[in-house]
Amino acid sequence: MCGIIGYLGPRPARDVVVAGLRRMEYRGYDSAGLAVIDHGRILVRKRAGKIANLESALAAEPLPDTEIGIGHTRWATHGVPSDVNAHPHVSGNGRIALIHNGIIENFAALRTELEAQDVVFSSQTDTETAAQYLGLEVARGTDLADAMRAVCRRLEGAFTLVAIDPTQPDRLVAARRNSPLVVGVGEGEFFVASDVSAFIEFTRSAIELGQDQVVDVTRDGVTVTDFQGQPAETHPFEVTWDLSAAEKAGYDWFMRKEIFEQPKAVADTLLGRFTPDGALKLDELHIPEDELRRIDKIIIVACGSAYYAGLVAKYAIEHWTRVACEVEIASEFRYRDPIITRTTLVVTISQSGETADTLMAIRHAREQHAKVIAICNTNGATIPRESDAVIYTYAGPEIGVASTKGFLTQVAACYLLGLYLAQVLGTKFGDEIAAVMHELAATPPLIQKVLDRLEPMRELARRLVDQRSVLFLGRHVGYPVALEGALKLKEIAYLHAEGFPAGELKHGPIALVEEGIPIFVIVPPQGRDQLHDKVVSNIQEVRARGAYTIVLAEEDDTEVDPYADILFRLPRVSTLLQPLLAIVPLQFFACELATLKGYDVDQPRNLAKSVTVE
Ligand code: M6R
Repeated sequence: MCGIIGYLGPRPARDVVVAGLRRMEYRGYDSAGLAVIDHGRILVRKRAGKIANLESALAAEPLPDTEIGIGHTRWATHGVPSDVNAHPHVSGNGRIALIHNGIIENFAALRTELEAQDVVFSSQTDTETAAQYLGLEVARGTDLADAMRAVCRRLEGAFTLVAIDPTQPDRLVAARRNSPLVVGVGEGEFFVASDVSAFIEFTRSAIELGQDQVVDVTRDGVTVTDFQGQPAETHPFEVTWDLSAAEKAGYDWFMRKEIFEQPKAVADTLLGRFTPDGALKLDELHIPEDELRRIDKIIIVACGSAYYAGLVAKYAIEHWTRVACEVEIASEFRYRDPIITRTTLVVTISQSGETADTLMAIRHAREQHAKVIAICNTNGATIPRESDAVIYTYAGPEIGVASTKGFLTQVAACYLLGLYLAQVLGTKFGDEIAAVMHELAATPPLIQKVLDRLEPMRELARRLVDQRSVLFLGRHVGYPVALEGALKLKEIAYLHAEGFPAGELKHGPIALVEEGIPIFVIVPPQGRDQLHDKVVSNIQEVRARGAYTIVLAEEDDTEVDPYADILFRLPRVSTLLQPLLAIVPLQFFACELATLKGYDVDQPRNLAKSVTVE
């Protein structure tokens, strides 16, 4: 939700922190701030709005070069986005500067308690309670790390905290619960951050912190304990991607870059996961085959685009495995007492691996003794760590708030899982699985083909730039593609957009059709799909009522020609694989339209990349 960074080392901390915030701005951009320690004093600069505002403040009133600093980019929860509510927060006694990602659920009670001790608050944030509390503890003479542990034991909710004490300019202390924190270890320098992208420029050696851990960083190294002060186990890892993956590489937007990275992202996700004869090989799935054979229900749980990827996967998984597969929005799943047993397989999908609703769903499922497999793009994130097994998608860092390559690789990974389950359950013959696997493996060049023919979508965006409402229709796997296409437009072009199952049209939504309304229609493959003709009829129905039809149909499908105002050709693939191609022009169209409207495509209003609070 928010991005946080702390630095201790010989470089100018101010510059390292601002560079790190820039890379994490996708996590929240309501306000930004930093604090350094200079000659025993905490100096703070913070501003509402994007990091550019903070940079202007720093230009007007520079901070000195120091070797320690902390910084924060905020997605507001408690308290409006303002200078005063921006982080870092300094305790009233001046002993602590602190940054926070998450929500402290019991902040009101703590605030009352602290106010009774004459502590005066200056912001409306939940975070300030932690800063004030920590300030009191260190003023009582408690060691900084002990004080942090004491505070953490009192806090409820989700938090990553980083604190510095002006009397200890060679030390910073951080803690985490239900919110991410990684430590970067360079040559004589240390970083703590929400995300490795904050320090990838300086080091690829990282340590992943576990749940309820505190890290004490000094010039001599890092010490990790649990909240009780007991030494804790950590997981060192090397970041496998480099700085260029987290940069725009000449593109105007990360989103556009990520759209064009999709052939590679899908290829990387499939790589090494099947044998030359098309058998699935998911070595990372450490769930015994016997246990998988007992599975009698699959529940896919996810949010947003990941949920739509799950909806696509349902069609394939049920078709291949003959096991009932439900797909649920994580925030609904957890609170409706779902029926989960030991023979339920819960599959969670999350690009970030941090989404709070999905994480809570995992915890709930595991309490009911279900097995949980995570499909995730972020190595070592909380969601894969708390699952029984993980299938990583290899999309590389996704920075644009609107998911693109994340979605496509999630669909690919779900398909790998579905085929693997069919192999284990014996619901498909080996040659049938191999045929699908080989077709799936052949999709990256076809995605490239789609990317090579996107020009008409640019023109279309120019034509539709003043539209107030856009509809998307699809059937079968085309339906979630319609939903995902509509979500892209809502998120970044702030346009009313709705996706409908085309067959449902006559049951209500057709009343929305009026003269000139643009309707995108995803047409199933011709001749090989029983729904093709029905969707062609749906196009005629909306066109007869004045709709402007943008038809996505496969090459050689001439039946649609008379009813399409705009025709976008998709390479020929079987129905289940069509989403991997059909979503691409819709992503590109949304990106184009938002660009034309002058919106910030990578940082759309009100959103943040990962939603780490419920
Ligand atoms: O990181 P996750 O995949 O768990 O995120 C889930 C959703 O928040 C995410 O897909 C969101 O809907 C995107 N902004 C969609 O573009």
